[in-house]
Amino acid sequence: MDKKIYEIKKELKCFHMKTYNNLETFRIKFLGKKKGLLTILFKELNKIPINKRKTFGKIINELKKEVQKKIDIFKHKNFIKNEKIIKFDPTFPGKSIEIGSIHPLSIIINRIIDIFQKIGFIYVDGPEIEDDWHNFTALNIPLFHPSRDMQDTFFLHKTPDILLRTHTSSVQIRYMKEHNPPFRVLSIGKVYRNETISSKSNFMFHQTEGFYIDKKVSFSDLKQTIHYLINSLFGEEKIRFRPSYFPFTEPSAEVDIYCNREWLEIMGCGMIDPKVLENVNIDSEMYSGFAFGLGIERLSLMIYKIKDIRNYFENDIRFLKQFKSEF
Ligand code: DAH
Repeated sequence: MDKKIYEIKKELKCFHMKTYNNLETFRIKFLGKKKGLLTILFKELNKIPINKRKTFGKIINELKKEVQKKIDIFKHKNFIKNEKIIKFDPTFPGKSIEIGSIHPLSIIINRIIDIFQKIGFIYVDGPEIEDDWHNFTALNIPLFHPSRDMQDTFFLHKTPDILLRTHTSSVQIRYMKEHNPPFRVLSIGKVYRNETISSKSNFMFHQTEGFYIDKKVSFSDLKQTIHYLINSLFGEEKIRFRPSYFPFTEPSAEVDIYCNREWLEIMGCGMIDPKVLENVNIDSEMYSGFAFGLGIERLSLMIYKIKDIRNYFENDIRFLKQFKSEF
């Protein structure tokens, strides 16, 4: 028995485990159910005198632990889980990662930001959760005024009124409150209205808000800026300004674009109402400004000739991968 134990110890020292096969051979060699060296030794314990059994039993048990420890260390070092080895083969082709494409709405948003950056507009963000003052009251839309009904609001909380912003015009108020003119600002983001989902409308869409305030800003500056935007987006296109009404601009206009032999409305704009300027402590005698608001979904439906707005939000890769960004 002594000799056999000595042999096993020697064998244990020299054994190198390099591959899984070796690990398995190793385990079978020592612990295999039938011919494992230690298994056989255990069986042989019966044959030796009782007074020696305890000592040898202890030694064999320790050897068994040692074998198990070697197996565990090897597995740990080689990240073998559940007896399966993850073999690293450097010649194996890599997993291909599909490169996505930029969402069509993001393409248009990036284009608009680029167009306005060229004429000195800075880009700012505003919160999607707004209070009544920034979304309505400061924009000259007082409580109970019928113009509040122009936009069907999702309220999150009543008194105080907290809501999902219905337009990006609230960013005008947030920015003007904190800064002194002159400034040229652009903001783009999501707005929410309680509207039925259809091919042309959704409860959430994106708007661009632009505003420019300085001394002597006039309606002709507004017209020139809108022409510049439309020409940059569409090339030379016929547009017209139609008188309209917004509570926060005076005079106000809507802009239509001539497309496929019909006039399509694409944006609202106007000269910022002096009352709005006063609400944010800007001297309306000294400063004037224009503002405009533009729906991104509607604009991109036109640019890409897409018929249904719902395509934008369904995450269908066949649809999304058709759009290429120039950026
Ligand atoms: N906030 C308006 C809307 O959601 C759009 C708009 C119209 C924005 C005129 C403006 C503006 O800045 O001057 O319908």
